[in-house]
Amino acid sequence: MENFLSNIVGDIFSKKEGSVLGIDIGSSSIKIVQLSRKNGHAVLETYGELALGPYAGKSIGEATNLPQEKIIEAIADMLSEKEVKITTNVCGVAIPFASSLMAVIEMPVMPQKQLESMIPIEARKYIPVPISEVALDWYIIPKDKNPDTEQIPNPNEKTTPQKLEVLIVALHNDTLIRYKDIVTKNSLNVSFFEIEIFSTMRSILEQEITPVLIVDMGATSTKLYIVERGILRSSHMINRGSQNITDELSKSLGISITDAENLKREKGLLGEVNGIKIKDVVTLTLSYIFSESNRVILAYQKKYDKNVSKVVLVGGGSALKGVVDVAKSSFQTEVVAGDPFAKVVAPAFLEKVLHETGPEFAVAMGVALRRLQELD
Ligand SMILES: Nc1ncnc2c1ncn2[C@@H]1O[C@H](COP(=O)(O)OP(=O)(O)OP(=O)(O)O)[C@@H](O)[C@H]1O
Ligand SMILES: [Mg+2]
Repeated sequence: MENFLSNIVGDIFSKKEGSVLGIDIGSSSIKIVQLSRKNGHAVLETYGELALGPYAGKSIGEATNLPQEKIIEAIADMLSEKEVKITTNVCGVAIPFASSLMAVIEMPVMPQKQLESMIPIEARKYIPVPISEVALDWYIIPKDKNPDTEQIPNPNEKTTPQKLEVLIVALHNDTLIRYKDIVTKNSLNVSFFEIEIFSTMRSILEQEITPVLIVDMGATSTKLYIVERGILRSSHMINRGSQNITDELSKSLGISITDAENLKREKGLLGEVNGIKIKDVVTLTLSYIFSESNRVILAYQKKYDKNVSKVVLVGGGSALKGVVDVAKSSFQTEVVAGDPFAKVVAPAFLEKVLHETGPEFAVAMGVALRRLQELD
């Protein structure tokens, strides 16, 4: 079984030394993080980002759908980038959520052996291609052991048969073949492919007990994950991302996509152009993303009767200046900017800039942290 589903937030404080890479091939850019371990700490050695837009004749920040050779070429460029100075080929690689199929299914309680043969049969109902064409992984969601929320059975009530909730994750074989080809052609020593959600969870979460919504704002899409006690409970994709904000800016101000992208990155929501407030021009995208996120929160609260206690923003789109404040006014819960570099020690001169500008590295960081654990 391919081990692309990982809920384990393990111990990163072990002794073995060596450098590892976490690689995230996003639609708009590739991100790489190189970590090592010193004195029991995960240490940031280097990191870098390479925009893919130019490989598709597009602007920086724009999403691409590149042919395989171009991705291989871009990774090769990234690995040999002089300023980034990558010094190892030991790595893990993230696979986009969009390339996976995920569902939470219900199964009757039965012995483990029987589950192993029944789950793939049940999973067929949720997977639109023949089961032989996918790699399937699954995880039994543990029952809620919190005494505050656990239901006390009423002896007078008819007991309904116990059900297990099982998270199933499928990846098409072709996807795995493509990714294996990318790493082989770049002579990378890869030990796992992991769906990006699990990577983000590892770098961003801090063992929260109550449900958390992670909002990954990418270029053309925004991904939403609800995680409870370190376990993924629900996942959604919204077809809007930061590139829509660039488009809105470009149209309403009559400027090129490149200029709009620069303006967005430089001034964010706080700027003004010819008396027009940027914040007013780009409200459509943001309010759509946040209202869809609220719908996901409400659906979860209704289904499980539990409040989502925190919203964490990650992804390049969350680097937009002023976006956290807009989010704060859109959610009835705490909102924070995720900090993928929080779990690593970084050179002092980088500390400040990292904590302000790194939300797009959440996936690459999570992959690198897992690869580091594997050195044990
Ligand atoms: N400082 C910034 N301010 C505002 N927007 C930014 C900033 N930096 C990056 N972005 C935007 O973030 C988007 C890219 O985010 P990210 O790198 O997380 O996406 P991706 O991983 O390539 O996409 P996906 O995960 O959807 O495949 C781009 O649209 C870019 O314009
Ligand atoms: Mg991404």
